[in-house]
Amino acid sequence: MAGTILTLAQQKGGSGKTTLAAHLAVALMRKRHAVALLDTDPQGSLGEWFEARERTFGEENAGLTFKTASGWGARREARGLKRDHGFVVVDTPPKSDLEARPAIEAADLVLVPVQPTPVDLWATDPTLELIAKEDAEGLLVVNRALKRASLTAEMLGRMDQLGHRVAKTTLGNRVAFAAAMGEGRTVSETQPSSLAAGEVDALVKEIVKLAQALGKQR
Ligand SMILES: Nc1ncnc2c1ncn2[C@@H]1O[C@H](COP(=O)(O)OP(=O)(O)OP(=O)(O)O)[C@@H](O)[C@H]1O
Ligand SMILES: [Mg+2]
Repeated sequence: MAGTILTLAQQKGGSGKTTLAAHLAVALMRKRHAVALLDTDPQGSLGEWFEARERTFGEENAGLTFKTASGWGARREARGLKRDHGFVVVDTPPKSDLEARPAIEAADLVLVPVQPTPVDLWATDPTLELIAKEDAEGLLVVNRALKRASLTAEMLGRMDQLGHRVAKTTLGNRVAFAAAMGEGRTVSETQPSSLAAGEVDALVKEIVKLAQALGKQR
């Protein structure tokens, strides 16, 4: 059975695409799925993370396939990886929809990390429009939420009205996410019993369930 392509896309820079790509990939791997990462961002942050991972665990034990691609090559590469991986997690660059488009087109599910502020929500519009135009399936994921802030609740309410799915799980603004990345790891590995790791687990469960439901529809 072919796998699922999960593309992280959001034109707003710094929303958490790369952080989420790494965290989801590792969490899926820990659930015994074969996982490939595909970096289509020329900035190469995910590649740097993966190199740090190889230094930490050794090349043989990184546990993930890692590839890079650009332009329309991304679509071909993602579809190729899908043949022998349960999940292909694709990171995309900010700003240009030209670069993100092939990865959105190839996606079974597009994950859109959003920081819960009015400005971030406005900046998400072009990404949501592109997802709609490509007839792709989208899932908004609130990232860096200040959990008790009334603004977060207000923004979640607004997101519910955008006509796209919104993940029930939100990821908090937690230093652990950023710190784990530096060592080529994720919070599931550095702090497996933390709130942060619990959030990642819950999000992965939600995504796997949704991907299965979407797969059955096709
Ligand atoms: N949940 C979180 N809690 C705390 N810090 C976070 C969280 N998510 C991301 N960050 C931090 O926010 C910054 C931006 O994250 P990241 O690089 O993943 O975003 P991006 O969308 O990939 O950015 P770009 O658009 O430049 O590719 C990084 O410093 C990262 O460590
Ligand atoms: Mg990035």
